[in-house]
Amino acid sequence: MTNTDRPEERARAREQASPSDALSRYRAVRRASEALIRSLTPEDMGAQSMADASPTKWHLAHTTWFFETFLLTPHLPGYRVFDPKFGYLFNSYYEAIGPRQPRPARGLITRPSVADVLAYRAHVDAGMAALLNRGLGGLDHLLDLGLAHEEQHQELILMDILHLFAQSPVSPAFAPPRAAPVRPGSPLGYVSFEGGLVEIGHDGPGFAFDNEGPRHRVWLEPFRLADRLVTNGEWLAFMADGGYARPELWLSEGWALVRAEDWRAPIYWRETPDGWRIMGLSGLRALDPAQPVSHLSYYEADAYAAWAGARLPTEAEWEHAAAGRPVEGEFVNSGHLGPLAAPEGPGLRQMFGDLWEWTRSAYLPYPGFKAAKGAVGEYNGKFMSGQFVLRGGACVTPAGHVRATYRNFFYPHQRWMFSGLRLALDGAGEDGQASDLEADVAAGLSKPHKSMPPKHFYDAEGSELFEAITELPEYYPTRTEVALLEGAAGEIARHIPEGAALVEFGSGASTKTRIVLDAAPQVAVYAPIDISASALEGAAQAIRADYPELTVAPLRDDFTNALRLPPETEGRPVVGFFPGSTIGNFTPDEARAFLVSARRLLGEGAAFLVGIDLVKDERTLVAAYDDAQGVTAAFNKNLLKRINRELGGDFDLDAFAHRAVWNAAESRIEMHLVSLRDQSVQAAGRTFRFAEGETIHTENSYKFTIERMAALARAAGWKLERRWVSEDPAFGMVLLRA
Ligand code: SAH
Ligand code: AVI
Repeated sequence: MTNTDRPEERARAREQASPSDALSRYRAVRRASEALIRSLTPEDMGAQSMADASPTKWHLAHTTWFFETFLLTPHLPGYRVFDPKFGYLFNSYYEAIGPRQPRPARGLITRPSVADVLAYRAHVDAGMAALLNRGLGGLDHLLDLGLAHEEQHQELILMDILHLFAQSPVSPAFAPPRAAPVRPGSPLGYVSFEGGLVEIGHDGPGFAFDNEGPRHRVWLEPFRLADRLVTNGEWLAFMADGGYARPELWLSEGWALVRAEDWRAPIYWRETPDGWRIMGLSGLRALDPAQPVSHLSYYEADAYAAWAGARLPTEAEWEHAAAGRPVEGEFVNSGHLGPLAAPEGPGLRQMFGDLWEWTRSAYLPYPGFKAAKGAVGEYNGKFMSGQFVLRGGACVTPAGHVRATYRNFFYPHQRWMFSGLRLALDGAGEDGQASDLEADVAAGLSKPHKSMPPKHFYDAEGSELFEAITELPEYYPTRTEVALLEGAAGEIARHIPEGAALVEFGSGASTKTRIVLDAAPQVAVYAPIDISASALEGAAQAIRADYPELTVAPLRDDFTNALRLPPETEGRPVVGFFPGSTIGNFTPDEARAFLVSARRLLGEGAAFLVGIDLVKDERTLVAAYDDAQGVTAAFNKNLLKRINRELGGDFDLDAFAHRAVWNAAESRIEMHLVSLRDQSVQAAGRTFRFAEGETIHTENSYKFTIERMAALARAAGWKLERRWVSEDPAFGMVLLRA
């Protein structure tokens, strides 16, 4: 099966299906199960590692029993049951069918042997071929259910084998590691949703389990969904901050379990003298901090979300966000045995086929749900008690098995499935300056090395302080770039097509923009993007007043979020503008990710003018970030003022000092706030402890060489077309082409 094997396409295919199509679908699924056991020994296949898991042999027999019991016995005249004892051995939970081997004792079934079970499969396959060749005559749904059921057990086989192998001191590998693309971690962003009255649930053609319907209306308050899953690296920070030792983060039942079972890490993490390793289907391997954290219980996912100042999404939020997206992922069929780090790019990533994502929704019947008649009615409905819903499918889920409406469910203590988490926040975060300040404070000040994203400097006061910085004698970048722009304006104007839309990132007071607008009257639309509402509104008003012909379409947003350009830019050639060396406030990974999404946003062929501060002597650099009048210090400390005001914090501004240092190895100026004593600070309803001398790392300002910038642009799919460089102080401008 392939990822293009979508439910609607399958439905269409089925409508025209001849008996042989049904048979080949049946055979493909049965073969996929048998392909899973190639590397397993009979001993592997008979063992049961815990009550929740079953031996592989049992899965192979049980899925076969399902076809025999629900299709062959009632519907194939003359069918001979393979072995009447198998009904007792391989019935899972169907009360209507009869008594069964207790689940925790499935591992004691040493007879039939694996060979006997494979003979059973062949016998039932022959019966199914006879049934399908006669035509299904209204049994389509039962066949679909049987196939979807077997696909579910394919995933269970992998979950259960991993659990079994994880008990072994020799950490066997189910399969060798595959070459997977190595991806660096990408920064976490949030995608906003307005909510309102939406519909969720399955409806229309295509197979779905009964629990996915009926489709119904749900009211959603505005919310934000993280654009990727939480990573191992982030989980390490949670652990380092006492994540498994702080009862205030945990649900009461979860905390009891942490204590009773002495949980200190996710189930398959192992601490070794060489650092953390993780047991997976390819054995015990070094922890990759960029990979999503996997095999979490609901309790762990919920505690992490509490720690991060966020929450788990509801299943309706998840489905609303996922609806209409292609079901693409790193499914096991595509050759990977574990989830991969999130690819770069704007918008939601890792929605399908990486890890099952915990939601905070209890697994309950949808309004109007009725279980099917007969024994198959026991398939889903009777489990609607005490479990939580997971969405999206995992890397071990057969490709084509998952859809946006699919509801998986587990008990909150279970953690042997391929489960991870995606954070959510209340509110669309578009108006009001709070945005994700609270979540960033909760996460950033809980880390062993405290840090905050620099975007939070820019409330109204911060934006004014920044403007004051640009006037300082020590802060050379602004006047140097202005001079560079003035000298190059004529040439830059020639790169701007007639009727163009100028899109500016981090426009602030839009002062430098005027140089471009004056030289290029052909610009028809100006779309400034800034996180600071006050700066953006002030600048938009001033530009409107001074350029009456120009359409000004401001966008208040975090420019690292998935952006959509304002409608006024539609159909126009686009030119990007990113002055101020604000790109230097990103880490190199973030800068590359930003350039990738900017290329997508601005479009093929777009020009992008980017200002970059260049490496120079340390004295000049440090002075620019530690001026004699203390304006930069006030700018830095304004972050604490903002936290006090917006999150009820009690930072004592006199107990922290501004520090600017040159980190030559990383080629960046770092700004920190240094705690002048041991102290505890309250903010956002929590307590943060500071030792004397401990710092909050508040900003990086990377300094470039033209070569480094060219390489960065190239890695993000841009070509450096033109450069302008000033000698002393050194500053550069590059014109990139998508
Ligand atoms: N372009 C102006 C201002 C630079 S100051 C100049 O060159 O002088 C950086 C600007 O970027 C500020 O206005 C700040 O509010 C904005 N900014 C910082 N981080 C941002 C983010 N993540 N999203 C949107 N705007 C951001
Ligand atoms: C916005 N950014 C490019 C400025 C810089 O130089 O990194 C912010 C700043 N921080 C301290 N002074 C100015």
